[in-house]
Amino acid sequence: MTPEIDVHLAPGWWRATLESEIRAGLTADRKAIPAKWLYDERGSQLFDEITRLDEYYPFRAEREILQEHSVAITAASTADTLVELGSGTSEKSRVLLDAMRRNGQLKRYVPFDVSEEMLRIAAVEIAEAYPGIEVHGIVGDFDRHIPDAPVRGRGMIAFLGSTIGNLEPGMRAPFIDDVVKALDRDGSFLVGTDLVKDVDRLWAAYNDAEGISAEFNLNILRMLNRELDANFDLDNFRHSAEWDAENEWIDIGLRSLADQRVRIGALDLTIDVAEGEEIHTEISAKFHLDGIADELAGAGLELVDQWTDRRGDFALTLARKP
Ligand code: SAH
Ligand code: AVI
Repeated sequence: MTPEIDVHLAPGWWRATLESEIRAGLTADRKAIPAKWLYDERGSQLFDEITRLDEYYPFRAEREILQEHSVAITAASTADTLVELGSGTSEKSRVLLDAMRRNGQLKRYVPFDVSEEMLRIAAVEIAEAYPGIEVHGIVGDFDRHIPDAPVRGRGMIAFLGSTIGNLEPGMRAPFIDDVVKALDRDGSFLVGTDLVKDVDRLWAAYNDAEGISAEFNLNILRMLNRELDANFDLDNFRHSAEWDAENEWIDIGLRSLADQRVRIGALDLTIDVAEGEEIHTEISAKFHLDGIADELAGAGLELVDQWTDRRGDFALTLARKP
């Protein structure tokens, strides 16, 4: 079956959002670029490379949990529709889809991502690999378009990879509220979270020896040069990813190596960046098992179960809407 792809963005919406978010971020006291702009075509490819790095354990740890427990997870959810937010390549989703198929409960897969190129490729590959199911891709922004996701009926919304840790503080609770509202009664939410652990391993996952994490981060400036006619000199910025022990997150940004002036032509904006100043690009929050369970309970969900990998690095939590 050919997948249906909905682009849930009005014409011009994307451009207007890029322009307004970049203007707001680069003129703020603490300069910042929202993390979703990391995922242009090249950024999505670089993230895919990150998932294969020795240092980047979260991808493998979550896949291990899925391989061990997806039959139990999907049976507990009773869902016939898997809606996946930030689905990316949909690689790990296949483990869930396989389990749903084995349980005889698979009808529909709804990948949802901001990265249109990646979503289209993944949707076609899934439709070919799972003949007979409905694949309905959504190109959208999960900060705004979850209410548009066609969850209908017995749905499970999955949010894998610990992408929930990339939401800025203050965004997580409204995000979970949107998920709860999108679910029908007895619908479920499956969320992957990277857990707090030894700082050296956390640090290495965002500072790999090959420099792919740095390339992924710097690529956001390349995107601004291309899309907004900016003149960021990538050699004048250095990737920075450090553990913030108080907030329990990795704080990621681009540190300026010189006093510099940057022009963003399409915004008719000139900014000064001081030597040592950081343009913040992403946080990657790390979690505790009881903390994530409490956040879901706070949004009115009932905890069904939690699973971790053998090493205790990563958790999957399943909760149900009563
Ligand atoms: N779920 C996959 C991919 C994680 S990478 C995994 O576990 O490996 C994060 C994904 O979220 C990327 O595919 C990115 O394009 C998507 N994403 C980031 N911000 C988004 C947003 N605001 N709305 C929708 N998708 C977003
Ligand atoms: C997608 N997300 C969960 C990744 C993470 O680990 O926070 C994004 C990432 N940023 C740098 N490396 C990986």
